[in-house]
Amino acid sequence: MIAAALTVANPVLREDNIPQIVSLLTLEEKAAILVGCGSTAFDGIGRNDVGVKGSAGATHAIPRLGIPSIVFADGPAGLRIDPTREGTDKTFYCTGFPIGTMLASTWNPELVEEVGRAMGNEVLEYGVDVLLGPGVNIHRNPLCGRNFEYFSEDPLLAGFIAAAYIDGVQSNGVGTSIKHFAANNQELNRLHNDARVSERALREIYLRAFEIAVRKAQPWTLMTSYNYINGVHASESPWLLTEVLRDDWGFQGTVVTDWGGGYDTAAQIHAGNDLIQSGSDSRYHALINAVREGRLSMEDVDACVTRALQLIVKTPRFRGYSFSDAPDLEAHATVCRNAADEGMVLLKNKGALPAGPGGVTALLGVTSYSFIAGGTGSGDVHRPYVVDLQQGLSDAGFTLDAPLDEFYRGYMEDEAWRCKMIDGNNSWVIDRERPIEVVPSGLIKAAAESADRAFITFGRVFGEGKDRDLHYSYHLQDNELRLLRETAAAFHARGKKVTVILNIGGVVDMQGWQDLADAILVCWQPGEEGGHSVAATLSGEVNPSGRLPMTISKAYEYEPSAANFPRVFEDKPFNYSFYRRLEGNKKDYTVKDVDYTDYEEGIYVGYRYFGTYAPKHVAYPFGYGLSFTSFRWSEMSVDTIDESYRVTVEVKNTGKVAGKDVVELYVSAPGRDMDKPARELKAFAKTPLLQPGESCTVELFVPVESLASWDEAAGRWSLERGRYRFIAARHAADRGIRKRLTI
Ligand code: BGC
Repeated sequence: MIAAALTVANPVLREDNIPQIVSLLTLEEKAAILVGCGSTAFDGIGRNDVGVKGSAGATHAIPRLGIPSIVFADGPAGLRIDPTREGTDKTFYCTGFPIGTMLASTWNPELVEEVGRAMGNEVLEYGVDVLLGPGVNIHRNPLCGRNFEYFSEDPLLAGFIAAAYIDGVQSNGVGTSIKHFAANNQELNRLHNDARVSERALREIYLRAFEIAVRKAQPWTLMTSYNYINGVHASESPWLLTEVLRDDWGFQGTVVTDWGGGYDTAAQIHAGNDLIQSGSDSRYHALINAVREGRLSMEDVDACVTRALQLIVKTPRFRGYSFSDAPDLEAHATVCRNAADEGMVLLKNKGALPAGPGGVTALLGVTSYSFIAGGTGSGDVHRPYVVDLQQGLSDAGFTLDAPLDEFYRGYMEDEAWRCKMIDGNNSWVIDRERPIEVVPSGLIKAAAESADRAFITFGRVFGEGKDRDLHYSYHLQDNELRLLRETAAAFHARGKKVTVILNIGGVVDMQGWQDLADAILVCWQPGEEGGHSVAATLSGEVNPSGRLPMTISKAYEYEPSAANFPRVFEDKPFNYSFYRRLEGNKKDYTVKDVDYTDYEEGIYVGYRYFGTYAPKHVAYPFGYGLSFTSFRWSEMSVDTIDESYRVTVEVKNTGKVAGKDVVELYVSAPGRDMDKPARELKAFAKTPLLQPGESCTVELFVPVESLASWDEAAGRWSLERGRYRFIAARHAADRGIRKRLTI
């Protein structure tokens, strides 16, 4: 009795007692909180079954102080967990939403927020605490294998879309992890590559999207990248994580490594990289030993533990939320469908679209029968189904040319079998095997007689761990070109139109073939409902309103980073992320674009480069996209409110069908005292659906400080004085409507 009365129960973790809990934790317990539970299986990186099967990682629980284990899962095109579990027939599929690039193509943050809300609900209802997304790395080069997960070549567009995504997901009371911080722009040797970037390019381009999203939406966590930046691992950089992220931007959240990222655990903790994921015994001991040997202070450890606990107390696990394992996948499929509808980018239309559903449609290309919903790697989602174009068109009432349809169905059955033999059951295939393109010449000729039009889909899939191959992935292949040439010849000879649909995760070459197509629709990787969205756009049920989030140049060689990006190495067997692993943390600088990559183009990424130095090399400019209707814009007016310029433009639908328009506001600086691109995007807005004859006023805000550039010499932001031009435009190369302002 007496002994029991004298025992003081341990306090348990509460939102308001974190300092007390930190003071009660032993060093071993602190290390257990910071170093994750590790991976339970390797079917790719970061697979973990603690908490939720097929999630990416978890933290250790400390039951005596009421600290639960919390669960992280990928992202970013939806939640990634295993769809089946032993001992139950129940399934755990998640909605496969459109890829990041397509979300950005909507130029519609409100819609992206809605997508985030639906995604976050699945995170909550499947018992996960933090979604590992969004990915906001810049599309520096079209061959980066993970561009599909990322939003744009422009940091403002990427930052605003990311903030909306984060707001949406986190409105469910679950977290996000904005990634990969920072300058993670190639997959080759991703663990060891050193990105050599000027501070100006970092501040204005590569960090900027993170900065916008952090300031606007405060993601619960941020994931550091694998690579080095100017000689220091991103996860070991106090400058990046403490000075810039926390002190400068006011980040309130917790920093997580990428899975297995960085090398020196003590340096990571000291830099402010709080959680080491997915964690291993050696990392756990490295942390404890570093403290015991005096190489790491307890103060640094406590700062990270404090931030880890601040994250934990916000999670559903901590709150004891009882999840249903049954989110409303049907409702979320509608959200997916709406987002894909708005992310379609119509690049060309010479009277070919809208078309159908009446008449007969010749449907060609293996991809029409095997749509690509998303990319590979950790960004892939176990979605319940994928609607391909064949099904999408049939559901929308299209009649397909029967002999062609029959041929493709048979051929695809064989190809599906062949692909399965190669890929096996591995859910984490980097180079997913695709059906081989076929040219059914006789059937094409016959269809040109009997059908009213032809639709051909070309597809590209790629993902984490490998960059794209210029020859095989960026360029169309001989059999694809032959399919298009034969179809165009046969159909054009009879005055019938040919539409090409690009089901791609990133830019492909357009120059070699675009003249053969009467219309070109980029449907990206539109998620599980893709075929329905494409069919609705082709028929005109949906009016396309997507805009390119990147420039498409006339040739890869014209890309500003082409001279400083890995190409396929004929003498190397493959081009994977683990290409070079050196003993310890030794850094090797021998092979250009492998050991190190020089960002020689500086801030001149995408349209900033093409618009300033090479406008003739652009096939389709950043921000470009056609509609089935036309819009007229009034003059713009500009006034100042507080520290911002308020720009208004009236948009009127002058065509015959309803549609949405996008106003892109670029600013052209004087460029006398500072080196400045010809123009930079400073704001954008999408209109609501405008009926024919209907108008609306679009309002855009440009904070004065957003016009500043990073002054390398002074080490601070600096605003150039002089005459600026505000340009409301339809794309980066559009003259637009202009106003001069003195600042
Ligand atoms: C990827 C991250 C991902 C993590 C967990 C890493 O390989 O780079 O984007 O979130 O694995 O799966």
